[in-house]
Amino acid sequence: GVTRHYKFRIRMKNITRLCRTKSIVAVNGKFPGPRVVAREGDRLFVKVVNHVPNNITIHWHGIRQLRSGWADGPAYITQCPIQTGQSYVYNFTITGQRGTLFWHAHISWLRATVYGPLIILPRRNESYPFVKPYKEVPILFGEWFNADPEAVINQSLQTGAGPNVSDAYTLNGLPGPLYNCSAKDTFKLKVKPGKTYMLRLINAALNDELFFSIANHSFTVVEADASYVKPFETDTLVIAPGQTTNVLLKTKSPAPSATFFMLARPYFTGTGTIDNTTVAGILEYENPSSSSLKNVPLLKPVLPAINATNVVANFSNKFRSLATTKFPANVPQKVDKKFFFTVSLGSNPCPKNQTCQGPNGTKFAASMNNVSFALPSTALLQSYFFSKSNGVFTTDFPDFPLHPFNYTGTPPNNTHVINGTTKVEVIPFNTSVEVVLQETSILGAESHPLHLHGYNFYVVGQGFGNFDPKSDPPKFNLVDPVERNTVGVPSGGWVAIRFQADNPGVWLMHCHFDVHLSWGLRMAWIILDGKLPNQKLPPPPSDLPKC
Ligand code: C2O
Repeated sequence: GVTRHYKFRIRMKNITRLCRTKSIVAVNGKFPGPRVVAREGDRLFVKVVNHVPNNITIHWHGIRQLRSGWADGPAYITQCPIQTGQSYVYNFTITGQRGTLFWHAHISWLRATVYGPLIILPRRNESYPFVKPYKEVPILFGEWFNADPEAVINQSLQTGAGPNVSDAYTLNGLPGPLYNCSAKDTFKLKVKPGKTYMLRLINAALNDELFFSIANHSFTVVEADASYVKPFETDTLVIAPGQTTNVLLKTKSPAPSATFFMLARPYFTGTGTIDNTTVAGILEYENPSSSSLKNVPLLKPVLPAINATNVVANFSNKFRSLATTKFPANVPQKVDKKFFFTVSLGSNPCPKNQTCQGPNGTKFAASMNNVSFALPSTALLQSYFFSKSNGVFTTDFPDFPLHPFNYTGTPPNNTHVINGTTKVEVIPFNTSVEVVLQETSILGAESHPLHLHGYNFYVVGQGFGNFDPKSDPPKFNLVDPVERNTVGVPSGGWVAIRFQADNPGVWLMHCHFDVHLSWGLRMAWIILDGKLPNQKLPPPPSDLPKC
């Protein structure tokens, strides 16, 4: 590999969307942010210089960061934030990965405007395990807030209420013609007839899982979260925040005399309010033969209903690892340690002398195993590395016994306790781990895109209702399960994942809905060093920010 240098200058930038001009935090004056492109095996140096009043960090979402946890980026987990006027160089090597990922701010809600594609091409002389695309097009889904996104979440945290929802969805930063005065802000994909395009789809939205479709066209899915999958056809995609999907789009030939809407809108089963608007882009054929593209019909795709959980389940069940000799599925066949984690949206009692606007006068909160994880005021990785805790965290993340309990019943069995502490799960190097993530439906069933830092995992099983430790594991797929970094815990169901803990450090695991993340739906793993020198986390770089 080669070494590539990037510089991210974080500055305020005026942007006009939905008829309003506002100042946003942006990278290099771009929204969405600049494209980072590298090859498998390359080493990246990204110098981030903070010129805004806000503290910031950048996370390289889905990058394994093998023994380079200091470059992972979540604030107060692997680093203290980069303060105004300061800088930090993220230094990491891309090992054993190629595909589409993204980078985003990982503090408060800054990732609403601070995000961009992270594209890892195969090594030189290596090709894709599918037809070489004529062109590759990144498409980032985002959410636009008229308000300041950090103010939106801060208000929710103070009042206990749900945050205001976004004002639009975007495709590559553009809301499109279905929103007020946004026809000129429309993402257009101009294509030639009879060619194969690869769309690199990235869901960078804060809080919404999305359906996506293009009228009269279908896709071949070839990759998920930068891992190749067995190709399959679909008209409609489902993509959760934190997930990336590469699809091939074969254009029609000859060029049809029509243009085609591409639409995205949310999938949601929760009880709260969400932004249920639709973002539109346009697929347009370059048509040298036809005299005019004026007055051609604009065709619209039909998207599933907002709560079409069956569509989501069928779609996620289609993913299989490519599992070839070249791209094997290294699924842990035996498990050293099994975990059962509940994933819950709930609420906390209102503190005395306060009025809270959450459910029945409470404060919204979210938890795993009933722990609503509190961020420490210094970074976990530093305190672990230098002093093995020092009162910053405790190692008693609760074991949840798998007792007979109706997690997904209606009305749900509510024995919910949430506390705001920093509890971590410590495991020895190279443990093979299984985690069953169980949604609890306490405030009504809702899906949660769970993201693990520092690892890819295999999705070995999923189902609706309560996980059954007797009848479900025998059905696990240990041959070619999909390898991902973000998986949807089904609304009213469970998912089982496996990974080999071969990357020492402190790794966050959390819901990639920023609202749930902010409410505490997060926890951290400490993976201890191994015995050999190449199994240990090296010391931090000298410019690592201090709190
Ligand atoms: Cu995409 Cu913890 O993040």
